[in-house]
Amino acid sequence: MAQLVPVESFDLIIFGGTGDLAIRKLLPALYHRDCDGQITDDSRIIAASRSAMTRKKYLADVEASLRSNLADNRFDESNWKKFKARVFYVPADAFEPNKWGALKKLLKGHDEKVRVAYLATAPSLFGPIADGMRSNGLVTDNSRIVLEKPVGRDLESACEINDAVGRSFAENQIYRIDHYLGKETVQNLLALRFANSLFEPLWRRSAIDHVQFTVAEDIGVGSRVGFYNGVGAIRDMVQNHLLQLVCLFAMEPPSSLDQNAVRDEKIKVLRALKPISVDDARANTVRGQYTEGSIKGETVPGFLDELEGEESSSETFVALKVEIENWRWSGVPFYLRTGKRLKAKHSEIVVQFHDVPHSIFPEQQYNVSPNLLRIKLQPDEGVRLSVMAKEPGPGGFDLRPVSLDLSFAETFGIRYPDAYERLLMDVLRGNPALFMRRDEVETAWQWIDGIIERWQVSKQKVESYAAGTWGPTGSSMLLDRDGRSWHQDD
Ligand code: BG6
Repeated sequence: MAQLVPVESFDLIIFGGTGDLAIRKLLPALYHRDCDGQITDDSRIIAASRSAMTRKKYLADVEASLRSNLADNRFDESNWKKFKARVFYVPADAFEPNKWGALKKLLKGHDEKVRVAYLATAPSLFGPIADGMRSNGLVTDNSRIVLEKPVGRDLESACEINDAVGRSFAENQIYRIDHYLGKETVQNLLALRFANSLFEPLWRRSAIDHVQFTVAEDIGVGSRVGFYNGVGAIRDMVQNHLLQLVCLFAMEPPSSLDQNAVRDEKIKVLRALKPISVDDARANTVRGQYTEGSIKGETVPGFLDELEGEESSSETFVALKVEIENWRWSGVPFYLRTGKRLKAKHSEIVVQFHDVPHSIFPEQQYNVSPNLLRIKLQPDEGVRLSVMAKEPGPGGFDLRPVSLDLSFAETFGIRYPDAYERLLMDVLRGNPALFMRRDEVETAWQWIDGIIERWQVSKQKVESYAAGTWGPTGSSMLLDRDGRSWHQDD
């Protein structure tokens, strides 16, 4: 494992400190980093939210969460004792910055430390909280602000938020999080592409027939139904996670790992995405919504049942055929799909290479299938390359695809840190390479807004799919029309 170096002393203020993200993800991530000795003794984690709550009660909630959420019995009394000494709680209402006395008092005299405001709140609070930090004199030269996704719900609202936060923080102090970029296997995409010379000559239209991106979830929207309705999968998953995967996959080699070198290459991909026209929208996009079905033998309700009878045309599934208009990728379709209540939690990128240009194995007799490179993101992270091989035996040629399989869990045999562990440490170290720059977020929204607008113009309906399947029929048809199919093991 890479050597872990403690980060500089910090004060991390988590606005939305009692929320699900803070309790289920951020505090456990910080606890892990503390256990590994990355947090110095004088660093503090200050949870802030509207509720008037005692520190004791807050710590009890955090402890309960750690006890139930930490895998592999990583909860340990002595580590907890050390960790809880760093955790504080203050009430602070975003809309009443003149009442942030407790926070100001806690921060007084600590201006020299790295100060991070993590906004684990609704995006409508980003501007007011940034303003509150400034009006209370809490923004120091060493301050950073972290914005959770979604940054807005379209280009216009994203610009408003970016402008509002930009009034108090400089762009290099703003960290827009997409937790997919903190996933080990997503970062491995960079290692696979740029630490191996094998793939680079093949990473282009001359060798690749098409690429498939799948981010499938078996969970439904559950308690987030209020947020999700009206947002849908295109805003929740495609605008950020899927497009970020496409960028890392398709970008030109950056000159270094420097924050701007990587982000400059990513934005070129976003700018090269072919806008989807009204006609294209019908042919190249699919919207779906789950109905009641069964997952792992259990009956689960449909999306409209979760909305308790309310009508909704929000999509819980999207599939898109995307083109990147540049020399490297011209003519190579990128098929993207994501959805809730699908058959399994399963995310991967599948690269299908071209057929051999001339087969010496006649088609009627031999089934030569194209090579596939599967980059498995979750679960069972790894890389699998399928190649054709001859089955052993003296009776002539029998061909079949075999896999060169690399399982990261077996190879490295360690716990995979959660994405937030990596990203929080990057914020504290002041390394924004894995965060989205303003222009990236806005360019991604511009392209997504185009699709949503076309859907509205063409009144594109959501197709139903039963929970526990791989999505609506339209999703298979999208590839079928091109003589292709989704690669999935079922
Ligand atoms: C979030 C989305 O950003 O990512 C959720 O808002 C989704 O709807 C989640 O469930 C998926 O993340 P992961 O890490 O479980 O793949």
